[in-house]
Amino acid sequence: MKIVIVGSGYVGLVTGACFSEVGIDVTCVDIDRNKIDNLNKGIIPIYEPGLEDMITRNMKKGRLSFTTNIAEALKDSEVLFISVGTPPDEDGSADLKYVLAVARDCGKHMNDYLLVVTKSTVPVGTSIKVKQALQEELDKRNIDIEFDVASNPEFLKEGAAIDDFLKPDRIVVGIESERAEDLMKSLYKPFTLNGHPVIFMDIISAEMTKYAANSMLATKISFINDIANLCEIVGADINKVRKGIGSDSRIGHKFLYAGIGYGGSCFPKDVQALIKTASEFNYELRVLKAVEAVNKDQKLILFNKITNYFKGAIKGKTIALWGLSFKPQTDDMREAPSLDVVKNLLEAGAIVKAYDPIAINEAKHHFGDTILYYEDQYETLIDADCLAILTEWPEFKIPNFKIVRKLLNTPAIFDGRNIYDREEMKENGFDYFCIGIDT
Ligand code: NAD
Ligand code: UGA
Repeated sequence: MKIVIVGSGYVGLVTGACFSEVGIDVTCVDIDRNKIDNLNKGIIPIYEPGLEDMITRNMKKGRLSFTTNIAEALKDSEVLFISVGTPPDEDGSADLKYVLAVARDCGKHMNDYLLVVTKSTVPVGTSIKVKQALQEELDKRNIDIEFDVASNPEFLKEGAAIDDFLKPDRIVVGIESERAEDLMKSLYKPFTLNGHPVIFMDIISAEMTKYAANSMLATKISFINDIANLCEIVGADINKVRKGIGSDSRIGHKFLYAGIGYGGSCFPKDVQALIKTASEFNYELRVLKAVEAVNKDQKLILFNKITNYFKGAIKGKTIALWGLSFKPQTDDMREAPSLDVVKNLLEAGAIVKAYDPIAINEAKHHFGDTILYYEDQYETLIDADCLAILTEWPEFKIPNFKIVRKLLNTPAIFDGRNIYDREEMKENGFDYFCIGIDT
């Protein structure tokens, strides 16, 4: 089978690489010529464990190629995936201009039956717009070609994207024709052999499933952060509370880690977009509005702790930061809590020294020369007044505390990800502050 993936970002590249890995002939398309030229030279635009190897291997096998020419890619292809961005519009709703541009491109260039599958995260009703846009282009050409649309939202997590795609908890597919169902079944067959189920449903329910899933996960995070803040006030320990509640199988242990708020390219925008969709139907999603509000405040919690520690005298203080990406195993800094922490520290007059194993280049796009960058985590500590942990990269988990203690001017650690043991920190002579434990 031959397929086309339009949009060669996180989702498009992982989707293309994984489909080609199981033997499907994949052409990835993007409008960004520079990106395509680089991909053709084997330069991968994102950091994602395992992706570079998989792309190179399948390019060599001749099963994976990259182009800017959608017309060429469409030749002999029966299925096209749309995996372009759906960034927030000014009012918070998902901007569909990239998705609809691809639908129009399909109508302009297809010459045979095509199943157009939307993999981008799109609000309910988008498939109808995709269908209309595509049909308008066919009408302009005055030709009648059969096509189907389908919805196949993507649930991969950055940093674990390959594994998530190859071994998904489930694959959700919204369809409205038997032909589309059969095509999607055969495409996903290699991924379902080990019992990973494909759940077929109508398209609107599939579109809704994606937003509901991300919103539920964001809700778990804001809930545990809210409880963590209360734990600090009443003297409880969020780590114990998390274990206590997570052992109830109805609640579960996953996604209950208190921290400095959720970031990334999806939770913030998808929660916002679902609230907007609801309001368009005159419905208020009160729980999600609270989830958003809690998250906004949570991103400031570490800054507030640092400010309290120095009794408001932040001006001129040097703050060392470990971790800038929105989570480990990625260089992605979109909506990362570090953006808020750095902004507030700089506004308060602090000097910021930062280290991240992967995201330094990305950080330079955001902060320019307003902060200092280091290639070694200990170098950030020289002349620093405290250390703040913003991302739980594995290499931060067991540092040499003697060196940390020796280098810091003040023995203060602000741990936004609860990666250290409070008692051990005290024994090592630190003033230690984390999330959800009264210190
Ligand atoms: P991205 O920004 O990394 O990539 C999008 C790509 O689409 C870019 O390379 C851009 O140049 C290209 N593009 C835009 N318009 C185009 C057009 N008309 N023709 C061809 N290419 C075009 O985006 P992403 O992170 O891969 O996200 C894509 C979608 O998937 C979004 O809706 C997102 O919400 C959703 N999603 C993302 C993730 C994730 O982890 N990043 C996970 C699940 C779902
Ligand atoms: C998330 C979802 O997990 C994916 O299923 C989904 O496909 C994707 O969004 C998307 O739609 O793009 P991702 O944003 O890559 O994936 O990362 P997550 O691992 O979900 O983390 C998101 C944020 O929540 C991070 O800032 C992380 O630090 C935070 N988080 C996560 C917590 O604060 N506590 C937790 O227990 C888990």
